[in-house]
Amino acid sequence: MAKVSIGCRLVVLISGNGNNLQAIINACTTKTIRANVVGVISNEPDAYGLTRAREIEIPTYVINHRSFNSRREFELTLKQTIDSMDPNLVILAGFMRILGSDLIEYYLGRMLNIHPSLLPNYAGLNTHARVLNDGVKEHGATVHFVTPKLDAGPIILQKRIRVEQADTVDTLAERVHQGEYEIYPQAISWFAAGRLKLVGDAVYLDGNQI
Ligand code: GRF
Repeated sequence: MAKVSIGCRLVVLISGNGNNLQAIINACTTKTIRANVVGVISNEPDAYGLTRAREIEIPTYVINHRSFNSRREFELTLKQTIDSMDPNLVILAGFMRILGSDLIEYYLGRMLNIHPSLLPNYAGLNTHARVLNDGVKEHGATVHFVTPKLDAGPIILQKRIRVEQADTVDTLAERVHQGEYEIYPQAISWFAAGRLKLVGDAVYLDGNQI
């Protein structure tokens, strides 16, 4: 019998390990999020997150960007695949491709990303090493709506952690990641419950701007 999907439909885009994907799946399973992951898409054929999804029979799709002649063609296939699952929310969870503005505009207000820094600080890559190099005392993770400017969309939620003297890239990454597994399911649960909205450049939770 076909599985009946109740509530908010989530499509998750990954490129790697899928620890955030796992945290989201777990939160759906325990009903912390009233939603279902209806599909997982990876641009990397060997992403371990695909295995996590397949093990529990979530449909997976590999859309390898290297197989396309242009970003336009890649993104067209990506969009068609996402839309074939009719999602309410598209979740970037370690998806390591920069998306074009047409695609982002199309999903505006219904696409989220998580970034391993306290945005607007440390947009881009290698955030933990850059934080340590600069000797800053605070680091963390940010969930935001995706807008065309990279890592600059309106912020929904942040997790702050203290940077300790003894921290290395690995210890810092570990604590930031633990924080991600809290705030991403939290933000998604708000969206799934209809409590979270993007209006213009502003984020509203329960009708109040945050
Ligand atoms: C996370 O650190 C996330 O902030 C970043 O990519 C990483 C993905 O890790 N965007 P995982 O695939 O969820 O384990």
